[in-house]
Amino acid sequence: MHKVLGINCSGRRYGNSDVLLQEALLSARECGMEVEYLRLSDYNIKQCRGCLSCVFTGGCAIKDDDMPLLWDKMKTSHGLLIAAPTYVFSPAGIVKMVIDRAFICAKDLDEVFKRNRVAAIISVAGNSEWNPLGVEILNVLPLAYGYRPVDYLEAYATGPGEVLLDDRNISGARRLGMTVAAELQGKSKKRNPEPGQCPVCYSKSFHFSGSGEMMCCTCGINGKVSLKEGQWTLITNPEDIQNHFFSYKHRREHLDNWIIPSKDKYLAKRDAIKERLRQYKKAKW
Ligand SMILES: Cc1cc2nc3c(=O)[nH]c(=O)nc-3n(C[C@H](O)[C@H](O)[C@H](O)COP(=O)(O)O)c2cc1C
Repeated sequence: MHKVLGINCSGRRYGNSDVLLQEALLSARECGMEVEYLRLSDYNIKQCRGCLSCVFTGGCAIKDDDMPLLWDKMKTSHGLLIAAPTYVFSPAGIVKMVIDRAFICAKDLDEVFKRNRVAAIISVAGNSEWNPLGVEILNVLPLAYGYRPVDYLEAYATGPGEVLLDDRNISGARRLGMTVAAELQGKSKKRNPEPGQCPVCYSKSFHFSGSGEMMCCTCGINGKVSLKEGQWTLITNPEDIQNHFFSYKHRREHLDNWIIPSKDKYLAKRDAIKERLRQYKKAKW
């Protein structure tokens, strides 16, 4: 049976992320999925130390937090449903803490990232005009942990549970559970991106990357911008879509051709760096 993991990133019990995630999970269960619900606030997640032990030794240097447990749960799930409140224009900080730890996947890349794993996200905020990076940043989490985004929901309400007053939020959350289940059952139900959205991850945030191209700030795909009947669209080629930054192929190349060689490149320069670092190590703050 396919397993769908639900992660609630809000610290508010019975808040908006909580109840919408529960709806999405219930609907996935009704579609035949085995589901598990967890609150990230019950987990002790520490800040990434940036030491890259996970890549070079196969194990994280942080030995006293719950990240290995969380990765175990993600690794064994086929689907992910994740909900987060927006705080100050982007998802709550705990989301980024988990994203930063994503190299914990390095040792399992070949085993996990080639599988059909799918995700749908729920971004909850008080006001649609103040949520410019909700979907954009929240979707980095499933991408970084090897899931393919297939749907999303933006829901707007302020008080805990207030989202329940609008039935469209409930039906939207239930749709996510159904989409994830259908995709895992081999039915093609991925939500179609709207004009102006990235075809991989639904982001609406793009960088100009020269020669008239734009790069998606979430998944890194490039495309040309076209204005058709008053609508901006990103024109991409299918190969770029397949090989976005978080695809198995690109993650493998990124590890093998960039991160792993960076160690020897650094070691070759270490003496010069040590010399320049000396004055900062002597400083008393
Ligand atoms: C510290 C803080 C910052 C917030 N910042 C924003 C914001 O930038 N944009 C917005 O639309 N809503 C913002 N909100 C409102 C929450 O996103 C909203 O109340 C949401 O429903 C909370 O979801 P929850 O019940 O799942 O925790 C903020 C709330 C808090 C507590």
